[in-house]
Amino acid sequence: MSAARIVTLPGDGIGPEVIAAALTVLHRLGDFEVTEHAVGGASIDAHGTALTDETLDACRTSDAVLLGAVGGPKWDSTDPAAPRPEQGLLGLRKGLGLFANLRPVRPSAALLDASPLKRERIEGTDLLVVRELTGGIYFGERGRTGGGAAFDTCAYSVPEIERIAEVGFRSARRRVTSVDKANVLETSRLWRETVERYAGDLRRAARGEDADPREDVIELEHMLVDNAAMQLVSRPRDFDVILTENMFGDILSDEAAMLTGSIGMLPSASLGAPGTPGLFEPVHGSAPDIAGTGQANPLATIGSVAMLLRHGLARPEEADALDAAIDSALDGGLRTPDLGGQATTEDATAAVLTRL
Ligand code: IPM
Ligand code: MG
Repeated sequence: MSAARIVTLPGDGIGPEVIAAALTVLHRLGDFEVTEHAVGGASIDAHGTALTDETLDACRTSDAVLLGAVGGPKWDSTDPAAPRPEQGLLGLRKGLGLFANLRPVRPSAALLDASPLKRERIEGTDLLVVRELTGGIYFGERGRTGGGAAFDTCAYSVPEIERIAEVGFRSARRRVTSVDKANVLETSRLWRETVERYAGDLRRAARGEDADPREDVIELEHMLVDNAAMQLVSRPRDFDVILTENMFGDILSDEAAMLTGSIGMLPSASLGAPGTPGLFEPVHGSAPDIAGTGQANPLATIGSVAMLLRHGLARPEEADALDAAIDSALDGGLRTPDLGGQATTEDATAAVLTRL
């Protein structure tokens, strides 16, 4: 079997540091053909655009993509004509058709006291945010109109909602909480209606001949996004899959990240159609304030490597082993500054490696 081809996109800020850490771990697990490309601010500096055709093509023909982070004050501008690092990420999501973003939130036992929330509140939390990633207000028509006004549009189609609902139900063990703003937004009413119909079809199919008995036990509930934001911190362990649209998922997943003690802990997978390469990245951003100091927590990126192995390369045993090594390192006392400790990026990487 030939080595899997991985494209790395280190990007900006702490991106290159956490990607270097993750690659050390990946190479320990076997032979991978790794090629690096520029994205985000790094690509703007080198090529004048946040995503070149060459980078996108390299990703398209790879088996999986591992991304660090994009963005930083250097490229911040409100000028609508100026290139923005985030366009690199959005271009990759659209260009690779990555409509499903999976963000698992499972506080490691060792970190229960590192969260700003009380241990008794978060103990037992094990949820997955399933965020729609290529539609909604992120990709709708936008612009400035004369007279100092601006607009962004949110649009969703039934097929876009159905395909993400499918991922949500497939990933659920007991319940799908579909989050929307159906009391105000038309796109949310279409969302609710479509998810409801999808669940009904599943139940009917489950009663039919070639039934998957699991489908019958997945409960569906609908929740308004403001209420969901509140429930997420008051009773996080009641959630299983949170299925939601692009912008609500962006906001709720940062909130959910704090259940684990630090946003430095959250990995993610962005997936498209079966057989196409997925993109794996830590949820934290480029953290320009600590870039180059050696303080970045690489665990979210190493966790993203585990997701890459599981979802991108169908190597679940290695993925489990890597997750276990991360947990064991934390059990052993590993704490980077974001978790109240002093371990460096290098210390954290070494701690995972010795337990792998
Ligand atoms: C994320 C990030 C991105 C998003 C930004 C960098 C465009 O916040 O992946 O959650 O809003 O989707
Ligand atoms: Mg975000």
